[in-house]
Amino acid sequence: MLRYSLFLAAALSATPLVVQEALAREAADAVAPEAATESVDVFAGVSEASRAALEAKGAGTPTEAEDWMIAAANPLAVEAGARVLREGGSAADAMVAVQAVLGLVEPQSSGLGGGAFLVWYDAESGELTTLDGRETAPLAADPRQFQDEAGEPLSFFDAVVGGLSVGTPGTPKLMEEAHRRWGRANWPGLFDEAIKLAEDGFTVSPRLAELVAGDSERLQRFPDTAGYFFPEGAAIAAGDRLTNPDYAETLRLIAEGGSRAFYTGAIAEEIVATVRGAEGNPGRLSTADLALYQVKERPAVCAAYRAHEVCGMGPPSSGALTVGQILGMLDSYDLATLGPDSAEAWRLIGDASRLAFADRGRYMADTDFVPVPVAGLVAPDYLASRAELLAGDDALPEVAPGAPEWDHAMRLADDESIEFPSTSHISIVDADGNALSMTTTIENGFGSRLMAAGFLLNNELTDFSFRSHSDGVPIANRIEPGKRPRSSMAPTIVMSEGTPSLVIGSPGGSRIIGYVAQAIIAHIDWAMDVQQAVAMPHLVNRFGAYDLEEGSSAAELEAPLSELGYEVNVRGLNSGLHAIALGETLQGGADPRREGIALGE
Ligand code: DON
Repeated sequence: MLRYSLFLAAALSATPLVVQEALAREAADAVAPEAATESVDVFAGVSEASRAALEAKGAGTPTEAEDWMIAAANPLAVEAGARVLREGGSAADAMVAVQAVLGLVEPQSSGLGGGAFLVWYDAESGELTTLDGRETAPLAADPRQFQDEAGEPLSFFDAVVGGLSVGTPGTPKLMEEAHRRWGRANWPGLFDEAIKLAEDGFTVSPRLAELVAGDSERLQRFPDTAGYFFPEGAAIAAGDRLTNPDYAETLRLIAEGGSRAFYTGAIAEEIVATVRGAEGNPGRLSTADLALYQVKERPAVCAAYRAHEVCGMGPPSSGALTVGQILGMLDSYDLATLGPDSAEAWRLIGDASRLAFADRGRYMADTDFVPVPVAGLVAPDYLASRAELLAGDDALPEVAPGAPEWDHAMRLADDESIEFPSTSHISIVDADGNALSMTTTIENGFGSRLMAAGFLLNNELTDFSFRSHSDGVPIANRIEPGKRPRSSMAPTIVMSEGTPSLVIGSPGGSRIIGYVAQAIIAHIDWAMDVQQAVAMPHLVNRFGAYDLEEGSSAAELEAPLSELGYEVNVRGLNSGLHAIALGETLQGGADPRREGIALGE
């Protein structure tokens, strides 16, 4: 069986990728949290239960519980959610508390200045609902805003750092909408823990400290951001106690006034002034964009796999469609017999993934702006025909988008956008059996590097294709006013005989899709428990080159996969999978590559 070995900071440094820009993007997140945990006991303040959960993760065993479970990226955030559940709150209530604390203790990944997608299973009605809280392009956006005067794409960080990349945040309204639909706790109380931590201070984690140190130049470009992460000129260090009074004040206003206090008034004005005043790279966000922001309910996208339905977030995310395509193509292949050590299994998974990514690049974008053949892309007949392409013995020499059935036609060119590090995934099951899967982000590590009212602003607009056209043919994921950038986030709930059996998701840019598909295969086909499934070494193929996780036994497949014809890169693969399996008991798993835990009772 593939096993996980030592995690080394050096092992996670970026190695060459197909696309040059991706190198720079990954560097911001390519740090192993475990690198520094040995010297600083940053979790000294967490409860005994959280300590036990950290130990369980370290030992590779799932957390077991009867009533409820939370798996998320930081013990302090998980504890805030656990308190809500203990007091009788729902999974939606707990999410609000978890997100409020994550925005403080893991500010590089998600927060009020970002966006999120949420999948909800309602135990009473048996229904799945998906909510789109994705950031939105300002009304003043222009399809060529990430191009130079010659129409060539800007370099990634020239576009990211500053105001131009900032979309209208969606997370505050999504928190409120989830609470309005499914919450029963008192809204203001859900912010108590985060306000207290912001005022009294929290302990800076190794991961946060390493990421700050690794991004020092960009983080010091804007005074407010520099002042927070580099107080008196020196980077915050692991073990430091950090307060954020501005964040506490913002949370207080939202606790008292709801999301309206964020989207209008002083906070909205501060966001707009920060974006428009960003020196060297001003953006176009207006108070009207904020005031108009809406969370959108979208139809869940489900794909059949074995005896299960794998359900998640449809466009503007490509998550559920691409995960669903990969699994749908693999459905007719016996991965269980091949097993996780078999190069043949990874040939099938890798090429199914490449085929799915070819469709993703061609067709997937915000359906409010571009026709997308959503049903056609996961139709069993279509996937069966695509699966026939996998019947050979070697890596496919090339892959191209297929021709799914359209309800109406549109000719589109392949996209050129690339996405990368930060992001967080929250999985929660409450005592009533409601399940919540939410992936939340500010896009790049530390987003646009702009800070307003105590939180970082996203750079989500760089998830659009920088090119608007290719040879005169429009690209589906081009920027347009009011449009939402295509995402890879794949918050997922696997349904088995009408009830949830697995709640899962991950950060990781477009590799999210591979991480989530792999963990589902590991759990369903290879009978791994959730902790094994999230910890297992990664092998990811999106565009042809096979990425194998450095420092793990996945690297042992380098020679066999090369022999099958793949270009192979051994590199750090920094997922952050958080999963809950629902059976006779609840079992939680937290990714050993990040600082989170699964906690339950
Ligand atoms: O929406 C997306 O797909 C990206 N903005 C997510 C970025 C991400 O996962 C970075 N991960 N480490």
